[in-house]
Amino acid sequence: MKRIKAIYPGSFDPPTNGHFDLIERGSKIFDELVVAILRNPEKDPLFTVADRRKMLESMTAALDNVTVDTFDGLTVDYALRVGAQAILRGIRAISDYEYELQMALMNRKLQPGLETVFMMPAAKYSYLSSRLVREVAQLGGPIDCLVPEIVGQKLREKIDVAHKFGNEQTAVSKASQGKNKLRKRKA
Ligand code: PNS
Repeated sequence: MKRIKAIYPGSFDPPTNGHFDLIERGSKIFDELVVAILRNPEKDPLFTVADRRKMLESMTAALDNVTVDTFDGLTVDYALRVGAQAILRGIRAISDYEYELQMALMNRKLQPGLETVFMMPAAKYSYLSSRLVREVAQLGGPIDCLVPEIVGQKLREKIDVAHKFGNEQTAVSKASQGKNKLRKRKA
């Protein structure tokens, strides 16, 4: 019987409950699911790739058919390299749709044999994004029901360190970088 392997690519800076919800859903319909963290040298992320990998590995430890990996270059090239037939992406709201459609069609142009599969996270996560989690955490708001325990812990450590060194500005400026990204996406 044919086994279907999918990758779930993203930045995961940091992974949220919404990401986890999608990973769980994906793990139920695909035989194998690889959560693939993009190593993007152009970005200035809050968490290193190694930290994000550790958090995702801990979050997915109980899901037998889920693994975590990192990649750079084109997502479609990575998918082919690991023998995946599908790319999993989440759509939270109609505002995600345009960007996701554009990306899915470009990926199809680049690699026609690879399918993008969209799944919706639970409605209670439809407002949740890594950017907002970073911003709320950096401005001292509660994040406990937004991210898994391990991520909350790591976020608190990061913010404590930033505050200790009087570096709130740096921490907050990371949040606004996220906003610029959103503006770029809409451009
Ligand atoms: O979590 P994100 O930031 O929305 O994930 C975006 C991601 C990593 C899926 C996208 O930027 C990507 O696929 N980047 C890899 C480079 C690539 O393949 N670009 C062409 C995409 S059409």
